Amino acid sequence: MNILEIKDVHAGYEPEAEAVQGVSLEVGDNECVALIGANGAGKSSLFKTISGILDARSGEILFRGEKINGLKPHVIVNKGVIQVPEEGGTFSNLTIEENLLIACQRQKAKENREKNLETAYHFFPVLKEKRQLMAGSLSGGQRKMLSISKAIMGEPELLLLDDISMGLAPKVVEDLYSMLKELTKALAVPVLVVEQIADIALDFAERGYVMAQGHILLKGTSQELRATDEVKKLYIGG
Ligand SMILES: Nc1ncnc2c1ncn2[C@@H]1O[C@H](COP(=O)(O)OP(=O)(O)OP(=O)(O)O)[C@@H](O)[C@H]1O
Ligand SMILES: [Mg+2]
Repeated sequence: MNILEIKDVHAGYEPEAEAVQGVSLEVGDNECVALIGANGAGKSSLFKTISGILDARSGEILFRGEKINGLKPHVIVNKGVIQVPEEGGTFSNLTIEENLLIACQRQKAKENREKNLETAYHFFPVLKEKRQLMAGSLSGGQRKMLSISKAIMGEPELLLLDDISMGLAPKVVEDLYSMLKELTKALAVPVLVVEQIADIALDFAERGYVMAQGHILLKGTSQELRATDEVKKLYIGG
């Protein structure tokens, strides 16, 4: 069973321009899938379309077999489709714990607040140490941990990670992904991960899709994709 099925979806910002041009993609119930592609390929736009921030002009997005395109973003979040956005997502002038507590929007997340807080603090102990400090005092990497922890507080049934490595040092990114590997395994949550660093995404996921100019160019296992010229070009920023 696929938890997410995207069928021939078109979406865009301007009437005449389409950032997403007929994309089809699936994520299985217990799968971790990568979506890679050069800058401006349409990866974040596709994520925004899944989350209902950008309208799908045509096509279908199914979550657990139920159509979700056309629903409001908060309704989609309530179903458990939780995104760690490319930018933002945390409030500088709230403490770390306040940031976490306001992230329990779903009823289920509210009920399991203490348990989820414990999970977040278990995987990111630095957040527990600093829980009474303002989020604005955190480093870039810690801020990303907070953003991921906010997603945990929402009890994700599908986790969408958008370029979490952006602006972070390689060692920080490596640590973040190894923590995420453990975390997603422990929570048994399926993941769709967007990364500008193809290598990281293909390491993290079992299979993936390559997106270019609004289209899906290729799909395959991480190993198959690594061997293609298109992905080799991405490594050198081509
Ligand atoms: N808010 C917006 N308004 C108008 N056009 C936009 C907007 N956001 C993105 N675009 C355009 O949509 C296209 C796809 O951009 P998108 O941000 O989805 O790419 P991306 O694959 O996420 O790139 P990156 O790797 O740089 O994050 C680009 O041509 C971009 O200029
Ligand atoms: Mg993007």
